[in-house]
Amino acid sequence: MEVNLMSLNDWSEDLQVNGVPYINTYPPGPYSLDKIKEAKKYVTSYWTGKKKDSEDGWDLPLTVKKVANSLIEDVDGNVYIDLNAGISTANFGYNNPEIWIRAQEIMNEYGVLGIFPSNDYNLPLMIDASKKLLSTVPNGPEYRVHYACDGTEANEAAIKTAVSFTGRGCVVSFMGSFFGRTMGSLSCMAQKSRDADTFRSLRSSNVYFAEGANCPNCIFCDHPEDCNGYCIEKFLKDRVLTHQVSPEEVAAFIMEPYTTGGLMNPAPEEFLKSAREICDDYGIVLIFDEIQSGMGRSGKMWVHEHHGVQPDIFTSAKSLGGGVSPLSAAFIRDEIMEEVPAYHGSTYGGAPISLAGNMAALEYMDKHRLLDRVRDLGNVIGKRASEWEDYLNVWQTRGWGLLRAVDFRENKNNPMVEYKSQIQGELFKEGIVTMSAGQGRYLSMLRLIPSFTIPNEHLEIGLDIFEKVISK
Ligand SMILES: Cc1ncc(COP(=O)(O)O)c(C=O)c1O
Repeated sequence: MEVNLMSLNDWSEDLQVNGVPYINTYPPGPYSLDKIKEAKKYVTSYWTGKKKDSEDGWDLPLTVKKVANSLIEDVDGNVYIDLNAGISTANFGYNNPEIWIRAQEIMNEYGVLGIFPSNDYNLPLMIDASKKLLSTVPNGPEYRVHYACDGTEANEAAIKTAVSFTGRGCVVSFMGSFFGRTMGSLSCMAQKSRDADTFRSLRSSNVYFAEGANCPNCIFCDHPEDCNGYCIEKFLKDRVLTHQVSPEEVAAFIMEPYTTGGLMNPAPEEFLKSAREICDDYGIVLIFDEIQSGMGRSGKMWVHEHHGVQPDIFTSAKSLGGGVSPLSAAFIRDEIMEEVPAYHGSTYGGAPISLAGNMAALEYMDKHRLLDRVRDLGNVIGKRASEWEDYLNVWQTRGWGLLRAVDFRENKNNPMVEYKSQIQGELFKEGIVTMSAGQGRYLSMLRLIPSFTIPNEHLEIGLDIFEKVISK
């Protein structure tokens, strides 16, 4: 089978003539508008459902014709620089030819192509892929890998495993995180009250919420330097675990060690260490969601490496399948798996194409020293972004590696949500794709999460345009 791969080379003529970004027709142009109308008739999407009243439905009215690395061409012939990397699903760039070709070689080597119900048979490819993946994890030999397709499924596996292992029925979650849209994950989320309101009858009532490491929105102190640790000491220990649920009833703590869509904030080390201590004291399973933040985005392969705190289970997804095929994983401590009476499964989880994509991506990361590149490009963004804090409406810029955001507020308590959307729209019209982020009423951020392979020049152009638009 021959795979035709589109790469930047296929665009070279156009790109040389026009440069990037290239706005031919003010977006959304006529073809895009037609396609948006058609889409509304034939397809559902998370965003169209939520934004019934909006003209276009999606975060951006972007109808994609083709993609390569960090570029997206729309159906009107506009070419955009994507500073969102497909919400982190394209860490290695769209259509990365090296990864695709290598993934196909791997599938051929193992004699299994595409889809196979991998959870139900023993596949040497899965064993080898797991060895390779676990070699990237601190204390890797202490974990086993459960494979699924979506991030939310990996979290479901984590929650079910913890409940099954401990025989306990309650979970403590941390406000502001995002875990996914299936009922277990959704039950653990307190990010937007609308989700809770709509699905209240189906949400578990056995999830209790503590205050997450949402330092920029901290309700206990105004500045991170004044941190008094009340979120853990006074709220989690003295309220949640004394007034609402006994720690002996709690199966798991589930949290994002780096709140991504919610706030783009790495948790302070002390926060995670205290959570680890409580879990150790009471036999609670500590689950970290690194769905978006893992796989190198923060500048280290896994976020918890920064903190030196070892979770009992952690989950990842997004670019785990190398951009070739969907893949998510729950990394579960051996000693837990030995004792789990009832477990979780997934028909397509760990399909050969996804495992091969993962193996190829890990090889690619090593070969091109991509973690160094994430740190270098992250420093470039960080330096530029810190200068933007002088602009009137930029309250803070935050993040590590290529997990960054610009937060538009008048001050801590006054997020500028409309203004952020206006900036996002202007950037789009200038050929820059971004995605918003935030929690509760603080939907005031734009993410800066480009692919690790974005050419330096495209990143510089993207940042120049970003700067021009927000400095107006
Ligand atoms: C931090 C985090 N957890 C979980 C999920 C859910 O992943 P999925 O949409 O693949 O189910 C997401 C998705 O955006 C996420 O960002």
